Amino acid sequence: PALHKVIMVGSGGVGKSALTLQFMYDEFVEDYEPTKADSYRKKVRACTLTPKTLGSATQCCTPSLQVVLDGEEVQIDILDTAGQEDYAAIRDNYFRSGEGFLCVFSITDDESFQATQEFREQILRVKNDESIPFLLVGNKCDLNDKRKVPLSECQLRAQQWSVPYVETSAKTRENVDKVFFDLMREIRSR
Ligand code: GTP
Ligand code: MG
Repeated sequence: PALHKVIMVGSGGVGKSALTLQFMYDEFVEDYEPTKADSYRKKVRACTLTPKTLGSATQCCTPSLQVVLDGEEVQIDILDTAGQEDYAAIRDNYFRSGEGFLCVFSITDDESFQATQEFREQILRVKNDESIPFLLVGNKCDLNDKRKVPLSECQLRAQQWSVPYVETSAKTRENVDKVFFDLMREIRSR
């Protein structure tokens, strides 16, 4: 089957791992365990995932899953990066391997929204392609009463970038399948 390589990017604590685990295993993890070199192995073992050799980019978790996309079997590899990690050089390396990006922030955390700007710039610089498959994802939409980033601001940024904007909840599973499938459709149609 076709293989689609998806990369999760965004600040620490926004829910990249939670979205990945919810998509892969229909589970929500309440505890925050930042994705790191240490937790990588443990997570891999706990989820019985197949770890992949990623060179120096060990701060990642790469689950792989076979899914049916519009009646066609495809394989999706999700590179769940560490938001707290800020070695730009390492990020360059793993961004290069990505075919599509889910750029995640938390609607309860304005700083994480501001940070999406830097992730976008870094991806465009590394991929050198304005039309790289990319979704802006506002996660934790179940916490709407704690919203810090107005919906209109999110939509405006997405419009400026010409990318879709989708709000998700890794907790309630709202739009979790949608963001992964929409991104795979974008990758496929290129
Ligand atoms: P790093 O690995 O450090 O980059 O963070 P991350 O983006 O992987 O965040 P992670 O998935 O570990 O989630 C951080 C915390 O937010 C955890 O306590 C999660 O349970 C919580 N969380 C993630 N997604 C949601 C969500 O949609 N709703 C709510 N209420 N909590 C969430
Ligand atoms: Mg994580």
